[in-house]
Amino acid sequence: MRDADVAGKRVLVRADLNVPLEEGRVADDTRIRAALPTLELLLERGAAEVAVCSHLGRPKGPDPALSLQPVEDRLRELLPDERIVVLENTRFDPGETKNDPGFARELADGRDLFVMDAFGSAHRAHASTVGVAQILPAYAGLLLERELEMLGRLLGQVERPFVLISGGAKVEDKLGVLRNLGGKADEVLIGGKMAEEIRDENPLEFDVVLPVDVVAASAFEADAETQVVPYDELPEGWLGLDVGPETRKLFADRIGRAKTVFWNGPMGVFEWPRFAEGTKAIADAVAAVDGFTVVGGADSVRALYELGLADEVSWVSTGGGAALELLEGKELPGVEAIPSA
Ligand code: 3PG
Ligand code: MG
Repeated sequence: MRDADVAGKRVLVRADLNVPLEEGRVADDTRIRAALPTLELLLERGAAEVAVCSHLGRPKGPDPALSLQPVEDRLRELLPDERIVVLENTRFDPGETKNDPGFARELADGRDLFVMDAFGSAHRAHASTVGVAQILPAYAGLLLERELEMLGRLLGQVERPFVLISGGAKVEDKLGVLRNLGGKADEVLIGGKMAEEIRDENPLEFDVVLPVDVVAASAFEADAETQVVPYDELPEGWLGLDVGPETRKLFADRIGRAKTVFWNGPMGVFEWPRFAEGTKAIADAVAAVDGFTVVGGADSVRALYELGLADEVSWVSTGGGAALELLEGKELPGVEAIPSA
């Protein structure tokens, strides 16, 4: 978009404003703030109108609880400019996820060019990420550009040791990245549900560092009874809800030697303070690294912000699934649709 002539033009911007809401208000505005540089540049360069669109959640049709209104309210606080127009949740239209040309034409109608800045949604081939790029002249936004640059660095030559840390629940989503990047990493540390799933049989072709102890809970409850046990001695019926103190030390020590780090996924159920210590230890260790550090995925990013450590890492990715797919070596449809990118 740096090369686009936008003066006097009506611009459609696809941002990823899929943010968590709590009681009808924006609970975390990271993605809204990340969208600002592109919007500001368009306004500075004299765009006549900047129409911003995004999905929010996974509605099956129009759903007032998933209106983009609270997002618009927050965006207007951050960027008060009358030329900004915020469209309603793109997923209220069934044509969005089907990449329906009719809905894409509706979005493009009356607009001169399209800026794709929704890195977090670039792995979706939808009407607002791909369809409109086939109708209007399409450009990459500043956030999309920066995400590709920063995450792309992990795919090229990296300074060693390169430590990869993976946790969280969506195990299948993450195995692909591990296969692609794990062999290249000097150490792969695995915690959270991931560790439990691959403990008995490692489907990867390289060694990984698994937890040595675990905070076991009698039930999946914030105030459950707990005990710290060796990782392979989880009592029958108990659940591992965090990595234990020995594991925290072990992982922090390995991270402490790193020059390059990619971290995706919490070590336990960090939303509950009693099971947040493992994730906290990782966040602290990654923040202390003197090197190139990248954190992606909504939960790890949220943990980092809650701990006030977001400024201590090299790059906080706004993409979860999109970042993983990129690092897996997959092409992102929302990027492929832009001729210049
Ligand atoms: C995300 O939060 O992962 C992105 O906004 C994509 O949302 P989706 O997984 O519902 O497509
Ligand atoms: Mg997702």
